[in-house]
Amino acid sequence: MTETIEPLFQPLQLLDVTLRSRIVMAPMTRCFSPGGVPGQNVADYYRRRAEAGVGLIVTEGTGIDHPSAIGSGAHGESNIPVLHGEAALAGWRKVVDDVHAAGGLIFPQLWHMGVLRTPGTGPFPEAPSSRPSGIWGPQGGSRSMNPEYVERMLAPTEPMTESEIADVIAGYARSAASARSVGFDGIAIHAAHGYLIDTFFWSQTNERTDRWGGDPAGRARFGAEVVKAIRGAVGPGVPIMLRYSQWKQQDYDARIARAPQELEGLLRPLVDAGVDVFDASTRIFSQPAFEGSDLTLAGWTKQITGKPSMAVGGVGLSRDLLTSLAAGAVPENNLAQVLTRFERGEFDLLAVGRSLLVDPEWALKARRGEPFKPFSLEQLRQLY
Ligand SMILES: Cc1cc2nc3c(=O)[nH]c(=O)nc-3n(C[C@H](O)[C@H](O)[C@H](O)COP(=O)(O)O)c2cc1C
Repeated sequence: MTETIEPLFQPLQLLDVTLRSRIVMAPMTRCFSPGGVPGQNVADYYRRRAEAGVGLIVTEGTGIDHPSAIGSGAHGESNIPVLHGEAALAGWRKVVDDVHAAGGLIFPQLWHMGVLRTPGTGPFPEAPSSRPSGIWGPQGGSRSMNPEYVERMLAPTEPMTESEIADVIAGYARSAASARSVGFDGIAIHAAHGYLIDTFFWSQTNERTDRWGGDPAGRARFGAEVVKAIRGAVGPGVPIMLRYSQWKQQDYDARIARAPQELEGLLRPLVDAGVDVFDASTRIFSQPAFEGSDLTLAGWTKQITGKPSMAVGGVGLSRDLLTSLAAGAVPENNLAQVLTRFERGEFDLLAVGRSLLVDPEWALKARRGEPFKPFSLEQLRQLY
């Protein structure tokens, strides 16, 4: 029998905004914004998803207003959009207006690449890359990156100073205020996958002995201060979503929390700082997070924080993101598993990445029980 996901087409109220469905477009870097400016092609791309049942779009990572926020990352990224400057903001205003006209909602994903930015690249090549302890990541580790890039990145650099930390936090706040000024409905924070905020969470890259490191609360402090600054910039009614992950690009097997108690130590300060929704980024949405329980990371996150959570990873496809980069992925209808966990209350929102990247109508097809399209790397070259 073909499963559909009708129960996911219920609205959800998040502070001042109402999502018309629980299907969220996951943030996906697309590299189609020359000079950091999203054009009409980007607006059309997001509008097509808003027209076809997606309740909320989280944009691709957008560089915050800080000199080392973006550049070329581990995969040679370029043409990444930013959230400051007249031209980029005018581009985003058009994206937001088009998505709104189609009845959708849209949050920008605020991004600082941190240790994963290749020094010497991006709009400010001379700016040093921001690293909490000057460490890129572990020597070993399960990852798929060019070994020469890794070798170069493993060379230690200076740890961030107090004033550098303050500058980055202020950059997040300015970008959040700019996002509101062009009509975005909420803010999504990228605190996952080995980028800046995540390297404060992760003890492998955070060896600081001051208040920005140490126990889980210390490692969460930078993220929490970013959240507080954003809250101050956007006001009380605007939802703030925060994405975190166990896995890192520097090591797919990395863990910031080995047990639920450690996870609680990291997430509690973020809740207190003002996060409204947690996006628990996993490679496979149904994978249990800790030994001895079937609960997923989104499930634990909701249980620990009492906040709505979002599940992600492999919905509609046979392989997770990382293996599909080498081998592609074929459609797989795993919606029965989605429904079971949604109806158990493990998560409130479902983020869909590659399935929505290749097919703007994926949500409608899932609702009607129609077949899905496969995913291959070639599809990244075009905005469908
Ligand atoms: C091309 C591509 C670009 C991505 N870029 C980002 C990004 O900018 N920010 C982010 O948080 N995750 C990014 N991701 C991860 C996705 O948001 C998502 O978590 C992941 O693809 C798993 O979901 P899926 O299995 O439904 O594709 C990207 C994924 C893909 C395929």
